[in-house]
Amino acid sequence: MSKRALVTGVTGQDGSYLAEHLLGQGYQVWGLIRGQANPRKSRVSRLASELDFVDGDLMDQASLVAAVDSVQPDEVYNLGAISFVPLSWPQAELVTEVNGMGVLRMLEAIRMVSGLSTSRTAAPDGQIRFYQASSSEMFGKAAETPQRETTLFHPRSPYGAAKAYGHYITRNYRESFGMYAVSGMLFNHESPRRGQEFVTRKISLAVARIKLGLQQELALGNLDAVRDWGYAGDYVRAMHLMLQQEESDDYVIGTGQMHSVRDAVAIAFDHVGLDWRDHVVVAPELVRPAEVEVLCADSARAQVRLGWKPEVEFPELMHMMVDADLEQVARETRMGELLAGTW
Ligand code: NAP
Ligand code: GDD
Repeated sequence: MSKRALVTGVTGQDGSYLAEHLLGQGYQVWGLIRGQANPRKSRVSRLASELDFVDGDLMDQASLVAAVDSVQPDEVYNLGAISFVPLSWPQAELVTEVNGMGVLRMLEAIRMVSGLSTSRTAAPDGQIRFYQASSSEMFGKAAETPQRETTLFHPRSPYGAAKAYGHYITRNYRESFGMYAVSGMLFNHESPRRGQEFVTRKISLAVARIKLGLQQELALGNLDAVRDWGYAGDYVRAMHLMLQQEESDDYVIGTGQMHSVRDAVAIAFDHVGLDWRDHVVVAPELVRPAEVEVLCADSARAQVRLGWKPEVEFPELMHMMVDADLEQVARETRMGELLAGTW
């Protein structure tokens, strides 16, 4: 019989890749959908047509209990979150509710549907396995480089602080109730499906528009920030592997390669034969109140225990994103011209 998976955040970048990956592995997959007419539902349906949906919201405990109860999943992947770090300063309470308390609500839904009492210390066989989308933002002002599972946390944003709570409460449910609960401490991962507010996609889209003569300038914040950027398609394989082990544990996932925002800009502009210095301007308002300067992963545990390794290198990733945006912008421009012609 095929395994059943419930994925929150299915309309996001990772959710769509994970749904495709699980369907490819023969799973039946349900995506949790929030809102009464979520416009991103049809987009993910186009990418993964066999995907089913169930209503729910990480802000609403009863909806999560109902979703878990109706799907009866073998595995729950909690990818839902407000994931854009800068939004977490002006909307700190909301981000804490969704990204922090939302994890607790999902763990509680699993505990209730599984019939685990709060005094129970060992979960029964056939339990629901849980994956939490933790983040390298928890390391923040990093105590050591590269960062591994044991590196101290020093979050630098309300987003990072909420993710740290999600991480610890996941571990706590594993230790308290014997739940198979895993925290994937993932470093930045990107793709052509990345939201346009994140720096790699902001760059790839701007490069495409500048190349096609639709834009002149690209305003960015801190060009010196260093990240460990990988490809989202590689990272969802790690999420799945984490839930297939004999015992649950936490894993750092990244490439171990460091690049600055300036490197990302140079690679992207260079790919289309342009000099970034002719187009990039620094906008002080895009610099964050507290920055995470350097992130770099030590994924040795995942490589040894899960047999996981990334396949796409950073320059290839940036090229993939620029090429996809060149195609998309050209298509949209043609459609715009066609529509203008019919008026
Ligand atoms: P994303 O593209 O921004 O997707 C976020 C998803 O969360 C969307 O599907 C969104 O659904 C959903 N969501 C937001 N609020 C919700 C709520 N109240 N209830 C239920 N769902 C809600 O993010 P991503 O890049 O795929 O990242 C997936 C997860 O990994 C996130 O938890 C993120 O924090 C974490 N993470 C990401 C990275 C990375 O580099 N991408 C690295 C480390 C950790 P709607 O359509 O309803 O808005
Ligand atoms: N977004 C953005 N826009 N970032 C910029 C810009 C800009 O114009 N200019 C410079 N940056 C710098 C940011 O200051 C940050 O240091 C770096 O580029 C990366 O920013 P983002 O792409 O927004 O990602 P992030 O690192 O803040 O967060 C992402 O990765 C986390 C894992 O480390 C998100 O996906 C989080 O959800 C995820 O947890």
